Amino acid sequence: MDRRPIGIFDSGLGGLTAVRELTALLPGEDVIYFGDTSRVPYGSRSRDTIIQYARQDVAFLRSFDLKAILIACNTVSSTAMEVLEAENSIPMIGVVAPSVQAAVQSSRNGVIGLIGTQATIRTGIYIRRIKALRPDAEIVDVACPLFVPLAENGRVEPGDIVVETVAREYLAPIKQAGADTLVLGCTHYPLLQRVIANEMGPQVTLVNSGAEGARAVRRRLMERDALNDPGHVGVCRYYVSDSVGSFVNLASVFLGHDVTGEVARVDITRY
Ligand code: DGL
Repeated sequence: MDRRPIGIFDSGLGGLTAVRELTALLPGEDVIYFGDTSRVPYGSRSRDTIIQYARQDVAFLRSFDLKAILIACNTVSSTAMEVLEAENSIPMIGVVAPSVQAAVQSSRNGVIGLIGTQATIRTGIYIRRIKALRPDAEIVDVACPLFVPLAENGRVEPGDIVVETVAREYLAPIKQAGADTLVLGCTHYPLLQRVIANEMGPQVTLVNSGAEGARAVRRRLMERDALNDPGHVGVCRYYVSDSVGSFVNLASVFLGHDVTGEVARVDITRY
């Protein structure tokens, strides 16, 4: 048993889709969440900047005594995971590896769509890892830079002509290729799940990278016998680098319920 909290971070609110799944799977775990809301989006930035931001995010989280860190961000998982693992002794779980596994398991016809930030797509990591498991797979990847600002502004509902138009354009090549599985390779995208599902049709399975990351945390903690006391009721504490008020307003959309735990602002540039 390990009573210490789990650290989770993202560039902004997207990682809350992983918190949502984690608290459903493991209601006894305490969580410390950091969202770098003053510097979101990460996905349009250079590799060096993403690594620098990710190092600061981890340094802040490590000011707590944690048992593991979930990198609930595909952009950081694909760009900085190796650097972060080399520099930190704490177990780190990224979202790419479990999402690749889920995509390969789900696909029948081997045609897999991938949507993500420009940085995630640039690394080519999903293609390499999917091909390593299934060499005959055809992967159609599309960077979707407008999805994160739409999600961060709550423009996520079916019937919203702006998000529907953007989704139609981004998803067209994936539909055309006949993908039967689509990886939502950004933890913000599950918010747009209904719009994306309507566009892709019911025959296409969507892989939620935040949820896959949460499941990977559960597997890792179970392997290490590191779950919290089964009688404990988990508490989430949230830290953000920009306004607490705007975080609280939008976080409920990502979490699916109101924010109940403490929320505080942190000056991430000090880390
Ligand atoms: N939620 C993040 C991801 O999974 C990144 C969004 C961004 O900051 O661009 O890639």
